[in-house]
Formats: sequence, C-alpha cells, structure tokens
Amino acid sequence: MKRPSRQAEGNAGPVASPPLRAVAAGAGLNLTDLQRDHPEYAFVAYLAEPALLDAVILDCRPEVVLLGEELTAKFELLARRHPGVKLVPVGQPLPGGGRERTPPVAPQPAGVPLPQQLVVVWSPKGGVGKTFIASNLATAVARRSRFSVALLDLDLHSADTGVYLDLLDGPGIVDLLPYLAELRPEHLENYMIRHPHSGLLVLLGPARPELADFVRLEHVLKILELARRRFGCVFVDMPPHAGEELVYECMEQASRILVVTTQDAAALRQTRLTLEVMAKLKIDVAGSVWVVLNRLHGAAPIGAERVEDFLGRPVVAKLEEDRKAVELSQFEGRPLVETGRSQRLGAALDALAQKLCPGVPDNGGPSRGGIKALFRRG
Ligand SMILES: Nc1ncnc2c1ncn2[C@@H]1O[C@H](COP(=O)(O)OP(=O)(O)O)[C@@H](O)[C@H]1O
Ligand SMILES: [Mg+2]
Repeated sequence: MKRPSRQAEGNAGPVASPPLRAVAAGAGLNLTDLQRDHPEYAFVAYLAEPALLDAVILDCRPEVVLLGEELTAKFELLARRHPGVKLVPVGQPLPGGGRERTPPVAPQPAGVPLPQQLVVVWSPKGGVGKTFIASNLATAVARRSRFSVALLDLDLHSADTGVYLDLLDGPGIVDLLPYLAELRPEHLENYMIRHPHSGLLVLLGPARPELADFVRLEHVLKILELARRRFGCVFVDMPPHAGEELVYECMEQASRILVVTTQDAAALRQTRLTLEVMAKLKIDVAGSVWVVLNRLHGAAPIGAERVEDFLGRPVVAKLEEDRKAVELSQFEGRPLVETGRSQRLGAALDALAQKLCPGVPDNGGPSRGGIKALFRRG
C-alpha cells in the first residue's frame, strides 16, 4: 500500500522539517543562546574543549557542527575529515558571505565534564592483580559511558588483558607499528578490539612474548599521545618493573597512578620502597598516586590498617579476595563488574571506577545514551 505523504497526513499548511542534529564546540559558546538563536538545530553535544571533537562527530553523527572562533583555523581539516558534516563558524562571516547571529559570549562551564583521564595500573611486583583490576575498571567506566574509554595493554612481555576480556583474536600493538608514524587518533581503533558487552576499546599487547621487543619506547609514547587525543578515559595495564623507562614515562604522563599491592610481606616492602622513590622523583606531586589493596583477606597476618601504617599513606580501595569468582571470571573472559558474580568485590571495583571518573553518570549498568548522555545538560 502506498504510504500517504506527510503533508496529506496532517492538516493543511507546510510541515516543519525536523531540526538538524548539531554539535557545538568552543569555549566561548553559550549553549542556551545557541538553542534560542537556532531552533532549526537539535543540539546533541556541547564541547567547551575541542580535544574530542573528532571523536564526538564520529559518535554523534551530527548534520551540523557549530564552531567557536578559536576553532575556525581547524575548518579545512575538519571539512576533510568529516565531508558529510556542515561546518558553521559562529559569530563570524560564513564562507558564503552571510553572518551568524550569535555573538561570542563569555566562557561558560561545559555541561557534564567528560572525564579526561590517563590511569595507569601498576605494581612493582607481578601477580598482584594489575590486569584483573585494569580490565574491570576500564569495563566499569565503559559500561557507563559506552564510548571514549580505552584499555592499552603495555605489559608487553606478559600481555593478558585479552584473557580477562575474552578478546584473543584480532590485531594488537605489533600490527600498528608499521603505520604508527602516519596514524591519526581516529585510526587507532582500527587496531583495537571492541569489547562487545561494554563498548570498551582494547589495544592488545603482543601475542607472544618474543614480539615484545619490537615495541620501543618511542612507539609507546606515540600510542599514548594518540590515545589521549582520541579517548576521554584511557586505562593502561603496565609491566611490573620499577626501573624501566617505559614505566617511568607512562607515570609521568598519567593523571592517576594506581599502585596495586597485596598483604603479602614482599609485595608490601616493594611497594613502600617504590612509593619512596616516586616521592623523590616528584611523580606524586599532585597526589596522583593511589594505593589499591587487592586480595584483602582476614587471615593475613598484616591487616588493612597495618598496611596503611606500614606504607605511610591511606589505601584508596580495598578489594577483597574471592578466588572462586575471580578465577571463574577469568576462565569465562568476563569481568566481574559485568557478571556481578562477586557482589562485594564487583561493587568495590565499581566504586573505584566512579572515584576515578566522577563525570560518568552512575546508571548501574550499560549506558542507554552513549556519549550523548555525557554532554546532556540539566
Ligand atoms: N581480588 C582477587 N581475589 C582472588 N584472586 C585474585 C584477585 N585479584 C587477582 N587475583 C588472581 O591473582 C592472579 C594474578 O592476577 P593478575 O591480574 O594477572 O596479576 P598481574 O597482572 O599483577 O600479574 C590471577 O590468577 C587472578 O585470578
Ligand atoms: Mg598482568
């Protein structure tokens, strides 16, 4: 049956076309003014900071992008990268000769801030739970935001994030090396695997330890730079060696360093020593180092309070030991924060994820709105 035209469905008179999906970007833009002056646009995202503009355009697929004054230099670049999108400079002459009505106004705070974080998960000792924690935290944040969260496996000689997330086949860090020099941030994900349940993008480490030596420090630095430009929140599963340059460089760049320890006497001793070194190297100047106590159990001779005394600093998260749940989740390749198999441990991991990325709305499950929810105002 032939569908009647939209005109014929309603009463007489022209039917207003639906508003165009629009993104506004620029520190000097005022979303309220833009909404008032442009009823023809439905704003799906507003970015005061342009760093994630490419990513937001790819995710939100707007028809129009309104650019603040400071972004007009990027006009040609954006036009090339996003050919289907109409770019509109705000408060300046349009390319066609017209002029937008909205004048630039004083900077406004963005709606909900996107958590821009580089979180490295590290320990001076192997086997304390770094990969378990990194994969669960990254999944927990990705489940809420469904976008813009990456996990990089930089434990190059012992890369196991794929095991914890059941992502064993596919490209990884070694595959992108030949293209790294020309790689743009939005192409990084061609070499990453999307975790199906959470949307987390994972850069797997070398498939075999002997491939690790192909990855050099300058490669890692470039990957970190690209990842920070492409993603709002980047988690890094780190190698356990203290003296390595790669570890030091990642820590230098991190906004948050999670130092994982257990109640094991050797792990505690190593942790205290390296915390002292980190303080001397001024790595912890802004309080960026958080101690996480993993595998906490009551039978240990050193209780949680004594751990804090011994280390001379608070423990930010206490994650209890639950061998059955952790081993099963590892066997299944499904993070605990997703399966809910160990309620207390899952909740503690979730709470730590919230602490790390407080801008991400806590909806207790997979996000409904994707990145759009992060930018929604009010
Ligand atoms: N909270 C926990 N409860 C029980 N077992 C754990 C816990 N955290 C980690 N494990 C176990 O400890 C082992 C080492 O964890 P892993 O994350 O691979 O350590 P790392 O990456 O530091 O080498 C794994 O077998 C894992 O199942
Ligand atoms: Mg590991």
